[in-house]
Amino acid sequence: MLNFSRTRTQPRSTRSLSLGGMDYADPKKKSNFVGKILLAAALTALCILMLKQSPSFNSPSPFSHHESGVTHVLVTGGAGYIGSHAALRLLKDSYRVTIVDNLSRGNLGAVKILQELFPGPGRLQFIYADLGDANAVNKIFSENAFDAVMHFAAVAYVGESTLDPLKYYHNITSNTLVVLEAMAAHGVKTLIYSSTCATYGEPEKMPITEGTPQLPINPYGKAKKMAEDIILDFHKNVDMAVMILRYFNVIGSDPEGRLGEAPRPELREHGRISGACFDAARGIIPGLKVRGTDYKTADGTCIRDYIDVTDLVDSHVKALEKAEPRKVGIYNVGTGRGRSVKEFVEACKKATGVNIKVEFLPRRPGDYAEVFSNPTKIRDELNWTAQYTNLQESLQIAWRWQKSHSNGYGTPPVMGS
Ligand SMILES: NC(=O)c1ccc[n+]([C@@H]2O[C@H](COP(=O)([O-])OP(=O)(O)OC[C@H]3O[C@@H](n4cnc5c(N)ncnc54)[C@H](O)[C@@H]3O)[C@@H](O)[C@H]2O)c1
Repeated sequence: MLNFSRTRTQPRSTRSLSLGGMDYADPKKKSNFVGKILLAAALTALCILMLKQSPSFNSPSPFSHHESGVTHVLVTGGAGYIGSHAALRLLKDSYRVTIVDNLSRGNLGAVKILQELFPGPGRLQFIYADLGDANAVNKIFSENAFDAVMHFAAVAYVGESTLDPLKYYHNITSNTLVVLEAMAAHGVKTLIYSSTCATYGEPEKMPITEGTPQLPINPYGKAKKMAEDIILDFHKNVDMAVMILRYFNVIGSDPEGRLGEAPRPELREHGRISGACFDAARGIIPGLKVRGTDYKTADGTCIRDYIDVTDLVDSHVKALEKAEPRKVGIYNVGTGRGRSVKEFVEACKKATGVNIKVEFLPRRPGDYAEVFSNPTKIRDELNWTAQYTNLQESLQIAWRWQKSHSNGYGTPPVMGS
């Protein structure tokens, strides 16, 4: 920044103004007035020059106005695992994308990769902001012309939510309220919301349909359920198009190896099974601990429904295409097929080529035996079905990225491994 201020302690006769590294001595008292005029003119010219150099002076930002034929999507949490994959897909499909993220858990490296892939004007912009800051969010909405919002940003670890529930209610429930208020204030009418099968709790009947009662058992699931309820209540009074997608267990990464899953090291202990498998394969942790081998399942271990992130983001694009004003669509996003933890570990061993050490331990309190989706509704209404259903292949793709990014997005990709 140039500093135009003058110190008052300098005697008038020797006062000088440093401008761009050049010193101008004050002219004689007689020409003081003319000097001031010239100085003011020079400063004005400089300001105009600086303004003209800013990209927003010559032409308004393409992000700030609606453009016919272009859908501008606000992707909250777009620096995170799922959000970055969604942004990649949207950009590939010619959407205009604004990512808002506070980088509390996401990676700027992912955003940089997207920017390198889509450098064109009006394609992608990144805004660093916290969704808990209603003023900042409101400013973002007032300066940008969004057509739709994909709201991914959230803290998302069941275990962590039991240790720090308020963080979850604040970050998930209250921030969703902030986003909704900004959407209402600025006339943004389409919302695709990231929800979770954790909102169902421990259903007695499998598979889980969208009609399965939602009785969440942990603060993460409860916070998401509350956010869903707020969205549903709110949408009744406005002509908003809402799609709520309840994901099952998300795995995998971009098949072309540009993006991956890179949670903060400190979150590892709360982490997900694929992350733990990869950590074990890389020797970061000594092995895998499988908790519970006496469940009433075929091999005694828990059963979950693993959905590949490429399929997941495809469901978002389909939901966006099919979203209709005054309507709410609620969909399970899963494969419809449960896999046991033992199956998962075997697939992971094959995908990584590492004979991961596995320790079998007693059940963990609160874990339920079986969770898998019935994806009939999303197939029938959005014409979506999971394509990446080979567990080993999904894990192989993710492992390739993990191997070439030993330090997450901190290390540049190593090609050919
Ligand atoms: N990963 C899964 O298996 C899974 C399953 C079900 C649902 N979900 C949901 O999907 C969404 C994305 O999850 P993910 O796995 O990509 O998580 P992630 O942690 O990788 O990404 C979340 C992103 O949100 C950002 N964020 C968090 N709080 C924010 C705030 N206050 N302001 C701005 N940005 C903020 C983080 O920095 C991060 O980039 C979440 O809503 C999550 O609940 C994930």
